[in-house]
Amino acid sequence: MTTPDEDLSSQLQPDIPHAARMWNYWMGGKDNFAADRATGDAVAQIYPEIALMARFSRQFLIRVVRYLAAEAGIRQFLDVGTGLPTMQNTHEVAQSVHPDARIVYVDNDPMVLVHARALLRGTTAEGITNYVPADYHDPETILTKAAESLDFSQPVAVMFMGVMGYEPELARIREIVNTMMSEMAPGSHLVLWDGTNTSPEVVAGAERLAEMGGVPYILRSPEELATVFEGLTLVDPGLVEITSWRPEPGEVERIDAYGAVGRKP
Ligand SMILES: C[S@@+](CC[C@H](N)C(=O)[O-])C[C@H]1O[C@@H](n2cnc3c(N)ncnc32)[C@H](O)[C@@H]1O
Repeated sequence: MTTPDEDLSSQLQPDIPHAARMWNYWMGGKDNFAADRATGDAVAQIYPEIALMARFSRQFLIRVVRYLAAEAGIRQFLDVGTGLPTMQNTHEVAQSVHPDARIVYVDNDPMVLVHARALLRGTTAEGITNYVPADYHDPETILTKAAESLDFSQPVAVMFMGVMGYEPELARIREIVNTMMSEMAPGSHLVLWDGTNTSPEVVAGAERLAEMGGVPYILRSPEELATVFEGLTLVDPGLVEITSWRPEPGEVERIDAYGAVGRKP
Protein backbone atom coordinates (compact mmCIF):
# COMPACT_ATOMS: atom_id res chain seq x y z
CA MET A 1 0.00 0.00 0.00
CA THR A 2 1.29 3.49 -0.77
CA THR A 3 1.06 6.36 1.67
CA PRO A 4 -0.53 9.61 0.43
CA ASP A 5 2.98 11.14 0.26
CA GLU A 6 4.32 8.30 -1.92
CA ASP A 7 1.25 8.53 -4.08
CA LEU A 8 1.71 12.26 -4.60
CA SER A 9 5.43 11.88 -5.25
CA SER A 10 4.76 9.24 -7.92
CA GLN A 11 2.21 11.54 -9.54
CA LEU A 12 4.60 14.48 -9.46
CA GLN A 13 7.26 12.41 -11.29
CA PRO A 14 10.16 14.64 -10.18
CA ASP A 15 12.57 12.82 -12.55
CA ILE A 16 10.53 13.66 -15.63
CA PRO A 17 10.42 17.23 -16.97
CA HIS A 18 6.91 18.64 -16.59
CA ALA A 19 5.38 21.47 -18.60
CA ALA A 20 4.06 23.54 -15.69
CA ARG A 21 7.35 23.30 -13.74
CA MET A 22 9.55 24.08 -16.76
CA TRP A 23 7.40 27.10 -17.52
CA ASN A 24 7.78 28.15 -13.88
CA TYR A 25 11.58 27.77 -14.25
CA TRP A 26 11.71 29.90 -17.42
CA MET A 27 9.55 32.49 -15.67
CA GLY A 28 12.14 32.71 -12.89
CA GLY A 29 10.09 30.73 -10.31
CA LYS A 30 11.25 28.25 -7.67
CA ASP A 31 8.61 25.52 -8.05
CA ASN A 32 10.61 23.12 -10.21
CA PHE A 33 12.91 20.09 -9.95
CA ALA A 34 16.38 19.27 -11.34
CA ALA A 35 14.91 17.42 -14.35
CA ASP A 36 12.80 20.47 -15.23
CA ARG A 37 15.81 22.78 -14.95
CA ALA A 38 18.08 20.49 -17.03
CA THR A 39 15.55 20.32 -19.87
CA GLY A 40 14.75 24.02 -19.46
CA ASP A 41 18.45 24.88 -19.81
CA ALA A 42 18.88 22.58 -22.83
CA VAL A 43 16.05 24.36 -24.64
CA ALA A 44 17.33 27.79 -23.57
CA GLN A 45 20.79 26.98 -24.98
CA ILE A 46 19.23 26.69 -28.43
CA TYR A 47 16.47 29.24 -27.96
CA PRO A 48 17.44 31.73 -25.24
CA GLU A 49 14.31 33.81 -25.92
CA ILE A 50 12.18 31.16 -24.19
CA ALA A 51 12.60 32.95 -20.86
CA LEU A 52 11.58 36.22 -22.48
CA MET A 53 8.57 34.48 -24.02
CA ALA A 54 7.51 33.28 -20.57
CA ARG A 55 7.75 36.79 -19.14
CA PHE A 56 6.16 38.53 -22.14
CA SER A 57 3.30 36.03 -22.07
CA ARG A 58 2.50 37.00 -18.48
CA GLN A 59 2.51 40.66 -19.44
CA PHE A 60 0.17 39.80 -22.33
CA LEU A 61 -2.14 37.98 -19.89
CA ILE A 62 -2.17 40.98 -17.57
CA ARG A 63 -2.97 43.44 -20.40
CA VAL A 64 -5.67 41.18 -21.85
CA VAL A 65 -7.42 40.45 -18.54
CA ARG A 66 -7.31 44.14 -17.65
CA TYR A 67 -8.81 45.02 -21.06
CA LEU A 68 -11.54 42.37 -20.72
CA ALA A 69 -12.48 43.44 -17.20
CA ALA A 70 -12.16 47.21 -17.59
CA GLU A 71 -13.19 47.79 -21.20
CA ALA A 72 -15.27 44.76 -22.24
CA GLY A 73 -17.03 44.49 -18.85
CA ILE A 74 -16.18 40.80 -18.35
CA ARG A 75 -16.58 39.53 -14.77
CA GLN A 76 -16.10 35.78 -15.34
CA PHE A 77 -12.91 34.01 -16.45
CA LEU A 78 -12.22 30.36 -17.28
CA ASP A 79 -8.41 30.02 -17.44
CA VAL A 80 -7.50 26.62 -18.94
CA GLY A 81 -3.92 25.38 -18.46
CA THR A 82 -3.31 27.85 -15.67
CA GLY A 83 0.22 26.85 -14.68
CA LEU A 84 1.82 27.36 -11.30
CA PRO A 85 1.03 30.52 -9.36
CA THR A 86 3.19 33.42 -10.42
CA MET A 87 3.11 37.17 -10.12
CA GLN A 88 -0.26 38.66 -11.11
CA ASN A 89 -2.50 35.68 -11.72
CA THR A 90 -5.76 36.06 -13.63
CA HIS A 91 -7.95 36.47 -10.53
CA GLU A 92 -5.71 39.18 -9.07
CA VAL A 93 -5.83 41.24 -12.26
CA ALA A 94 -9.58 40.73 -12.82
CA GLN A 95 -10.57 41.36 -9.21
CA SER A 96 -8.45 44.51 -9.05
CA VAL A 97 -10.94 45.88 -11.60
CA HIS A 98 -14.11 44.06 -10.45
CA PRO A 99 -13.80 42.78 -6.85
CA ASP A 100 -16.80 40.51 -7.53
CA ALA A 101 -15.14 38.81 -10.53
CA ARG A 102 -15.35 35.00 -10.65
CA ILE A 103 -12.45 32.92 -11.87
CA VAL A 104 -12.13 29.19 -12.51
CA TYR A 105 -8.66 27.77 -13.09
CA VAL A 106 -8.14 24.42 -14.86
CA ASP A 107 -4.94 22.37 -15.17
CA ASN A 108 -4.12 18.66 -15.39
CA ASP A 109 -0.68 18.76 -13.69
CA PRO A 110 -0.60 17.34 -10.13
CA MET A 111 1.98 19.97 -9.12
CA VAL A 112 -0.50 22.71 -10.00
CA LEU A 113 -3.06 20.93 -7.83
CA VAL A 114 -0.56 20.92 -4.94
CA HIS A 115 -0.18 24.67 -5.37
CA ALA A 116 -3.87 25.38 -5.91
CA ARG A 117 -4.19 26.72 -2.38
CA ALA A 118 -1.48 29.32 -3.10
CA LEU A 119 -3.03 30.02 -6.48
CA LEU A 120 -6.37 30.83 -4.88
CA ARG A 121 -4.92 33.00 -2.14
CA GLY A 122 -5.79 36.67 -2.25
CA THR A 123 -9.24 36.26 -3.74
CA THR A 124 -11.55 39.10 -2.73
CA ALA A 125 -14.43 38.65 -0.26
CA GLU A 126 -16.93 39.50 -3.01
CA GLY A 127 -15.34 37.37 -5.72
CA ILE A 128 -14.98 33.64 -6.32
CA THR A 129 -11.82 31.81 -7.35
CA ASN A 130 -11.94 28.05 -7.84
CA TYR A 131 -9.70 25.35 -9.23
CA VAL A 132 -10.74 22.37 -11.34
CA PRO A 133 -8.18 19.60 -11.91
CA ALA A 134 -9.02 18.46 -15.45
CA ASP A 135 -7.65 17.82 -18.93
CA TYR A 136 -8.77 20.18 -21.67
CA HIS A 137 -9.48 17.15 -23.86
CA ASP A 138 -12.52 16.71 -21.67
CA PRO A 139 -14.31 20.04 -22.16
CA GLU A 140 -17.64 18.60 -20.98
CA THR A 141 -16.22 17.90 -17.49
CA ILE A 142 -14.64 21.35 -17.39
CA LEU A 143 -17.94 22.98 -18.32
CA THR A 144 -19.88 20.98 -15.72
CA LYS A 145 -17.43 21.81 -12.93
CA ALA A 146 -16.98 25.44 -13.99
CA ALA A 147 -20.76 25.93 -13.97
CA GLU A 148 -20.64 25.48 -10.18
CA SER A 149 -18.83 28.86 -9.99
CA LEU A 150 -19.67 30.64 -13.26
CA ASP A 151 -23.01 31.74 -14.70
CA PHE A 152 -22.99 30.78 -18.38
CA SER A 153 -25.98 33.03 -19.10
CA GLN A 154 -23.53 35.95 -18.64
CA PRO A 155 -20.36 36.56 -20.71
CA VAL A 156 -17.23 34.57 -19.83
CA ALA A 157 -13.64 34.96 -21.03
CA VAL A 158 -12.31 31.52 -21.95
CA MET A 159 -8.52 31.53 -21.85
CA PHE A 160 -6.04 29.11 -23.44
CA MET A 161 -2.69 30.70 -22.67
CA GLY A 162 0.29 28.80 -24.06
CA VAL A 163 -1.38 25.39 -23.85
CA MET A 164 -2.64 24.43 -27.31
CA GLY A 165 0.72 23.09 -28.48
CA TYR A 166 0.30 19.99 -26.29
CA GLU A 167 -2.40 18.76 -28.69
CA PRO A 168 -0.96 17.65 -32.05
CA GLU A 169 -4.20 17.93 -34.06
CA LEU A 170 -5.38 21.43 -34.91
CA ALA A 171 -8.84 20.05 -35.73
CA ARG A 172 -9.09 18.65 -32.20
CA ILE A 173 -8.20 22.06 -30.76
CA ARG A 174 -10.92 23.72 -32.82
CA GLU A 175 -13.37 21.09 -31.58
CA ILE A 176 -12.42 21.70 -27.92
CA VAL A 177 -12.68 25.46 -28.30
CA ASN A 178 -16.00 25.20 -30.17
CA THR A 179 -17.45 22.93 -27.47
CA MET A 180 -16.51 25.47 -24.81
CA MET A 181 -17.56 28.59 -26.74
CA SER A 182 -20.90 27.12 -27.83
CA GLU A 183 -21.93 26.99 -24.15
CA MET A 184 -21.01 30.64 -23.59
CA ALA A 185 -23.35 33.63 -23.80
CA PRO A 186 -23.04 36.22 -26.59
CA GLY A 187 -20.41 38.78 -25.59
CA SER A 188 -18.13 36.04 -24.27
CA HIS A 189 -14.51 36.10 -25.40
CA LEU A 190 -11.86 33.60 -26.41
CA VAL A 191 -8.29 34.53 -25.46
CA LEU A 192 -5.39 32.54 -26.77
CA TRP A 193 -1.70 32.88 -27.18
CA ASP A 194 0.75 30.25 -28.36
CA GLY A 195 4.34 29.76 -29.44
CA THR A 196 4.65 30.01 -33.23
CA ASN A 197 7.00 28.42 -35.77
CA THR A 198 8.16 31.86 -36.87
CA SER A 199 11.95 31.38 -36.58
CA PRO A 200 14.34 28.46 -37.16
CA GLU A 201 15.65 28.93 -33.59
CA VAL A 202 12.30 28.40 -31.91
CA VAL A 203 11.66 25.31 -34.05
CA ALA A 204 15.08 23.91 -33.04
CA GLY A 205 14.24 24.69 -29.39
CA ALA A 206 11.00 22.69 -29.62
CA GLU A 207 12.92 19.79 -31.17
CA ARG A 208 15.40 19.88 -28.29
CA LEU A 209 12.51 19.85 -25.80
CA ALA A 210 11.16 16.62 -27.30
CA GLU A 211 14.65 15.04 -27.48
CA MET A 212 15.16 15.78 -23.78
CA GLY A 213 12.00 13.91 -22.80
CA GLY A 214 9.83 16.99 -22.29
CA VAL A 215 6.21 16.83 -23.41
CA PRO A 216 6.50 17.73 -27.12
CA TYR A 217 5.12 21.15 -28.01
CA ILE A 218 3.66 21.70 -31.49
CA LEU A 219 4.48 25.18 -32.76
CA ARG A 220 1.96 26.44 -35.29
CA SER A 221 1.89 29.26 -37.81
CA PRO A 222 -0.11 32.41 -37.04
CA GLU A 223 -2.44 31.42 -39.93
CA GLU A 224 -3.17 28.09 -38.23
CA LEU A 225 -3.87 29.80 -34.91
CA ALA A 226 -6.22 32.23 -36.67
CA THR A 227 -8.49 29.33 -37.67
CA VAL A 228 -9.29 28.71 -33.98
CA PHE A 229 -11.06 32.11 -33.91
CA GLU A 230 -13.48 31.29 -36.75
CA GLY A 231 -16.96 32.61 -35.98
CA LEU A 232 -15.62 35.17 -33.49
CA THR A 233 -14.92 38.87 -34.04
CA LEU A 234 -11.28 39.68 -33.41
CA VAL A 235 -10.72 42.61 -31.07
CA ASP A 236 -8.16 45.17 -32.33
CA PRO A 237 -5.30 44.71 -33.17
CA GLY A 238 -6.24 41.12 -34.14
CA LEU A 239 -3.86 38.18 -34.02
CA VAL A 240 -0.38 39.64 -33.51
CA GLU A 241 2.87 38.93 -31.69
CA ILE A 242 1.92 39.03 -28.01
CA THR A 243 4.23 41.98 -27.40
CA SER A 244 2.30 44.01 -30.01
CA TRP A 245 -1.14 43.40 -28.49
CA ARG A 246 -2.07 46.80 -27.01
CA PRO A 247 1.46 47.30 -25.65
CA GLU A 248 2.43 49.74 -22.94
CA PRO A 249 4.23 52.79 -24.37
CA GLY A 250 7.87 52.06 -25.21
CA GLU A 251 9.85 49.72 -27.39
CA VAL A 252 8.08 46.56 -28.56
CA GLU A 253 10.31 43.48 -28.81
CA ARG A 254 9.58 40.72 -31.30
CA ILE A 255 8.88 37.19 -30.08
CA ASP A 256 7.80 33.86 -31.60
CA ALA A 257 4.40 33.89 -29.94
CA TYR A 258 1.07 35.19 -31.24
CA GLY A 259 -2.08 36.00 -29.36
CA ALA A 260 -5.55 37.41 -29.89
CA VAL A 261 -8.90 38.09 -28.30
CA GLY A 262 -12.09 37.12 -30.13
CA ARG A 263 -15.62 38.16 -29.16
CA LYS A 264 -18.61 35.88 -29.60
CA PRO A 265 -21.28 37.89 -31.46
C1 LIG B 1 3.33 26.70 -20.84
S1 LIG B 1 2.37 26.51 -19.37
C2 LIG B 1 1.38 27.99 -19.44
C3 LIG B 1 0.84 28.40 -18.09
C4 LIG B 1 -0.04 29.66 -18.07
N1 LIG B 1 -1.24 29.49 -18.89
C5 LIG B 1 0.70 30.87 -18.49
O1 LIG B 1 0.37 31.46 -19.54
O2 LIG B 1 1.63 31.27 -17.79
C6 LIG B 1 1.24 25.24 -19.88
C7 LIG B 1 0.26 24.73 -18.81
O3 LIG B 1 -0.73 23.92 -19.45
C8 LIG B 1 -0.99 22.79 -18.65
N2 LIG B 1 -1.52 21.72 -19.52
C9 LIG B 1 -0.84 21.02 -20.45
N3 LIG B 1 -1.65 20.13 -21.06
C10 LIG B 1 -2.87 20.30 -20.48
C11 LIG B 1 -4.14 19.65 -20.68
N4 LIG B 1 -4.26 18.67 -21.58
N5 LIG B 1 -5.17 20.03 -19.91
C12 LIG B 1 -5.03 21.02 -18.98
N6 LIG B 1 -3.86 21.67 -18.76
C13 LIG B 1 -2.79 21.31 -19.50
C14 LIG B 1 0.37 22.44 -18.04
O4 LIG B 1 0.24 21.65 -16.88
C15 LIG B 1 0.91 23.84 -17.75
O5 LIG B 1 0.54 24.28 -16.48
